Amino acid sequence: MMLAKTFMKSKTIDKWLFLKKFFQNPRDVGSIIPSSNSLTQKMMEHVPWNHVHTLVELGAGTGVFTQAIYDLIRPDAKVAVFEKEEEMRELLKREFDGFHMFTNALELKDSLSSIGVAHADCIVSGLPFANFSRSDREKIIRQVCETLCEGGLFITFQYSLQMKTMLQAAFNEVSISLVPWNIPPAFVYICKKS
Ligand SMILES: C[S@@+](CC[C@H](N)C(=O)[O-])C[C@H]1O[C@@H](n2cnc3c(N)ncnc32)[C@H](O)[C@@H]1O
Repeated sequence: MMLAKTFMKSKTIDKWLFLKKFFQNPRDVGSIIPSSNSLTQKMMEHVPWNHVHTLVELGAGTGVFTQAIYDLIRPDAKVAVFEKEEEMRELLKREFDGFHMFTNALELKDSLSSIGVAHADCIVSGLPFANFSRSDREKIIRQVCETLCEGGLFITFQYSLQMKTMLQAAFNEVSISLVPWNIPPAFVYICKKS
């Protein structure tokens, strides 16, 4: 499905916050600016919106994907958003009323169980896995696999193909596409649990 929609979450103040957080913690923030509209569209176009009752977003930043999710998700769906940087999380709390906010993707399963969620239909991620230790990458991917329901999708982007082997080992189907219109250009990974 092609999404023609332009998502309007690109305020200058958000970009300054992103840049500030990058300088404070480059490893975790992973980029100097939020993802582009092209990358947001590519991340969102594979989500089967009518069938998603529970969605998780990991590493939301200033909320470019969160805004798209807010615009497209069924009104009765449950959404849980994880963002480690407090100032960004406070911004997300103010802007996305009704979404459940959590701090650390490493605590994915425990956080979801605190709101009575055991499984998700879709998990969208902006986490900079390439900057994490191997052990943290494995912890998060293991919890993502355990959380997704059968047929569920894990959609993530990275600036390299470094995660390809780990994701292909964890999921039955993985497809990868390049989005050149982003700084830097990004690879989108669509991973299916079946
Ligand atoms: C590359 S940015 C992506 C932000 C946004 N999704 C976008 O595409 O513009 C990565 C985000 O992941 C957050 N992050 C890093 N490690 C995290 C963790 N363990 N749990 C939750 N968020 C994390 C960072 O604070 C940062 O906001």
